[in-house]
Amino acid sequence: MMLRVLEPELMEDDAQVQAYAAADFSQENQGFVDLFREYFPEFSEGHVLDLGCGPGDIPIRLACAVPGCRITAIDASSPMIRLAEDRVRQAGLSDRITFRCERFQDLAGANMADAAMSNSLLHHVPNPLQFWHKLRVAVKPGSPVLVMDLLRPESPEEAQAIVDRYASGAPDILRRDFYNSLLAAFTEDEISAQLAQMNLTRLIIDVPDDRHWVVGGIIH
Ligand SMILES: C[S@@+](CC[C@H](N)C(=O)[O-])C[C@H]1O[C@@H](n2cnc3c(N)ncnc32)[C@H](O)[C@@H]1O
Repeated sequence: MMLRVLEPELMEDDAQVQAYAAADFSQENQGFVDLFREYFPEFSEGHVLDLGCGPGDIPIRLACAVPGCRITAIDASSPMIRLAEDRVRQAGLSDRITFRCERFQDLAGANMADAAMSNSLLHHVPNPLQFWHKLRVAVKPGSPVLVMDLLRPESPEEAQAIVDRYASGAPDILRRDFYNSLLAAFTEDEISAQLAQMNLTRLIIDVPDDRHWVVGGIIH
């Protein structure tokens, strides 16, 4: 099995941030929000945390899909947060989506949210147990959580094949980031082991396609 190769934790390089924000992830991002609604059809109001929000597309989509929620979106990259704030302002959602430019590991406080979500963050994180710990502490018991990220392929060749299959026409910088992210991602077994170690086995892991895992459920 190919070992994990870490990539930089934060996306702070201007060209990288611009390329990521300009890419069309509308299908994936709406898919993530639709999945949240499918997993938690009863969730209609409350405070949602988004860990590693990037350019803010997912919080905007969730705010539109769940008019009763407000969202705190967290990312430690200031260029990413600046972009996300502009987008939220343009969408007229600044009263419902607020941003914090900080590492999730440094978030103070407990029981601050009624739900949490995170897409494509975990592969950036050197110690994934810090993520699962923070997720559990940050939300109130009984809260829905949905986390999704890439799966690490078996080999560099397989990672390259996935990049070629799904990002053939994308700019080089995005293809490079996608490849590096696949190498930094976790396997299904590693995620299951992390959940077991953190006593989060009521969360269910699913592998919906050839390059993603999803963990969802209620935090107790
Ligand atoms: C691949 S992007 C995903 C963005 C967004 N969730 C999406 O799905 O489009 C990962 C984001 O996580 C941020 N990030 C990485 N490590 C972080 C940490 N420890 N705390 C907060 N944000 C972090 C990066 O700066 C980057 O903007």
